Amino acid sequence: MTWNIPLIKQLGIKYPIFGFSHSIDVAVAIARSGGFPVLGLGRELPEDIKDVVTTVERRMEDMPYGLDLMLPSHIPDHGSVEQFRKELPRAQVEFTEKLRKRFKVRKPTRCSFFTDQVRSEALFAEQIEVTLASNCNAVVTAIGLREDLIRRAKQRGKLAISLVGSVKHAKKALGMGVDVLVAQGYDAGGHTGMVGTMSLLPQILAVAQGRPVLAAGGIATGEQIFGVIGMGAQGGWLGTLWLASKENHTPKALLDRLINGQSEDTVITRAHSGKPCRVIRSPWIEAWSEPSAPSPLPMPLQQVLTGDVFTSMHEFNDPAIIYEAAGQSVFGISKATTVKAQMDRLIRALDVAKTRCQSWTSCVAQDSTVMNYAIKS
Ligand SMILES: Cc1cc2nc3c(=O)[nH]c(=O)nc-3n(C[C@H](O)[C@H](O)[C@H](O)COP(=O)(O)O)c2cc1C
Repeated sequence: MTWNIPLIKQLGIKYPIFGFSHSIDVAVAIARSGGFPVLGLGRELPEDIKDVVTTVERRMEDMPYGLDLMLPSHIPDHGSVEQFRKELPRAQVEFTEKLRKRFKVRKPTRCSFFTDQVRSEALFAEQIEVTLASNCNAVVTAIGLREDLIRRAKQRGKLAISLVGSVKHAKKALGMGVDVLVAQGYDAGGHTGMVGTMSLLPQILAVAQGRPVLAAGGIATGEQIFGVIGMGAQGGWLGTLWLASKENHTPKALLDRLINGQSEDTVITRAHSGKPCRVIRSPWIEAWSEPSAPSPLPMPLQQVLTGDVFTSMHEFNDPAIIYEAAGQSVFGISKATTVKAQMDRLIRALDVAKTRCQSWTSCVAQDSTVMNYAIKS
């Protein structure tokens, strides 16, 4: 099937499938399979970010791709983990210490973004410069917006894309000149708003007034992608699904949790970052909802408090507490696989959905009961 969707043609990709990942291997594999990959830079250490971007540029060859930054507002101008650690409230520090003992959390041996960095304007300024200097085709922003970044990205011929979880955020993004909106529903893995994808998408399409909109959150099948295109989206944007691919190098204990997890096993918590974030349930996350638990701290302090634990559970593949951001789309993860196998499956299902749609709509004229069923389902 050839897709005549304006954004797909503009980007020069084959399929209306957009894939977010923190893994270069996943991003390259999505591009090779005809989708549009977006590499998240929000977990890279400042000393590594240039190398990461150089590597992705080289490995993408001439294939189009995007780079993503998480840019929340109301964060400090600058500051180090050591500095902020001294200011953490006692109740949260003591509670975290108890949990560390209860779950026998080991000290990580390597540093990571979560052990060493505090999200601050100074850090973002560095990330922004590296992103703008790259040859990426799109600059994506999540959780927050920076007008200057959007303007400079567009001046360099890059598309400005923004993830939005509400009509209010969509209007703000459009007002700042964003070219493409990603309507990311409550179902999504990662930081998320309160409205489900199915209800959010038509509202974002209405305010976008013809500008391209993609749909994200809870999507794990080609039929769903076909469905959102039917609603007016120019593609589906997926994040959780790729965690099952070997290219993601997901720790085995986490992969098992995802394979065994249902949509109901994902929960929205502030215990990961300080902002509402959908993750796969784990005893570490659940402990933060116990009656004796204090409130998680606001971003970026919750990461200062618990970033070493997140790093440790991944480094040591800890089956007791490991978790990760994951959406209700976890229902689509049933085994370890590859990006190519996932893309092939999504593409085949897009065809199946199209055939079903054609056959059901052609039945409409002859059989009104089929029409009712098709409309209701
Ligand atoms: C592990 C993980 C990490 C994520 N990190 C980011 C991020 O750094 N920036 C971002 O824009 N979106 C991030 N997201 C959200 C995705 O871009 C996407 O909107 C979401 O995964 C879509 O819903 P789904 O998880 O049901 O596919 C993340 C998602 C996951 C699963």
